[in-house]
Order: sequence, then structure tokens, then C-alpha cells
Amino acid sequence: MTQNIAVFASGSGSNAENLVNYFRESPSIKVQLIVSNKADAPVLERAKRLGVRFAVFSKNEFENGKKILSLLNDFDIHFIVLAGFLLKIPEELLHVYPDKIINIHPALLPKYGGKGMYGDKVHQEVVLNKEKQTGITIHYINENYDEGQIIRQVVCEVSEDDSPADVATKVHALEYQYYPRVVEQIIAGLQ
Ligand code: GRF
Repeated sequence: MTQNIAVFASGSGSNAENLVNYFRESPSIKVQLIVSNKADAPVLERAKRLGVRFAVFSKNEFENGKKILSLLNDFDIHFIVLAGFLLKIPEELLHVYPDKIINIHPALLPKYGGKGMYGDKVHQEVVLNKEKQTGITIHYINENYDEGQIIRQVVCEVSEDDSPADVATKVHALEYQYYPRVVEQIIAGLQ
């Protein structure tokens, strides 16, 4: 049986695109749907270009949970993979998808996590605090931002003269390398 993924993304969507491309080769896992809360998010252009179905929900529609659940049901979605998705996941979804909603955070949680810690802000703080290392955290979603069970962390070095943009480039490279593979292992029951 094919395991179907919905990717949720609010922004650029480079990880969403990477996931779509990675699972094109998979006989058993497919990205069937991209969901966004922003009608002008660049991820939607990517979805069109990649030929992946997509849907946009307002914050209210999303928080209500019903419409999104019905869509996920229509697409027979088994796993939800968040890739730069900025809204909190409503409880209805957590109940229907226990341990089946996965997120990636661009730092080593619990450091640099929580509400408001996303995008460039994370890397700016890492540089400001003169961290020697940062990295990625792949984790399950629970009721609190960035506090679900950690599945995998991968570290990269931060040099003294790295700018936040340099750190972002290093972290993105780790995301592209590891996120699809770890998602694949979770779905296969290996993580
Ligand atoms: C990534 O850095 C991811 O870790 C975080 O949001 C960012 C999304 O980037 N959750 P992109 O939209 O995939 O380029």
C-alpha cells in the first residue's frame, strides 16, 4: 500500500520541493498534496511547476480543523510533513494523526526553538551567541511549538566569521540531505 504524504509549507518551499523530488523515485511513498496558509507563498508556484496538487486555507479555516481533515481524508493522507509551516497544528489533527506529523527545525532544539523562532531569526541568534555548532532537529509535533519528541538531530560547525546567511546555507544543506531520508525511515518504521 502506498503511504501518502501531505507537505504543509508557508513560505519558499525549497524543502517541500526536495521532498517531492525525493519521493518521486519511491515505489511506496508519495507526496500527494501541498497545503499552505498563504495564497501568495512561493511554495505554491513550486507545486504548480512540480505538478503536485495544492490547497490554501485561511488561519481560521485551518484552526477549525474540519475542512483540512476532510481534505486529508479525500487524499487518503497517512503522514503530514511540515516544511516551514508557521501555524500551530490544531488538536483535531493531532488526534487523527498521532505520531504522524513531523517537523524540521533549523537549529538544535531545545535551543533556539519556540514561538517566533523561525527563519533567519534562528540563525541570527546563533551567530549573536557565538555558537560553535548548530544544525537541524527533526521531531514529532505535539501541542507546544518545537517541543515534540526528537527523532533525529544533525550538527554542523559554525565558524567565527560565518554570517547568519552562511549559517542558513549550511543548515539548508543538512535539511535537504537528511529530511527526506529520515521521513522515509519513519514511515518504514525504522525510526
Ligand atoms: C527551513 O529552514 C525549515 O527548517 C524551517 O523552515 C525553513 C523552510 O525553508 N522549519 P523552505 O521554505 O523549505 O526553503
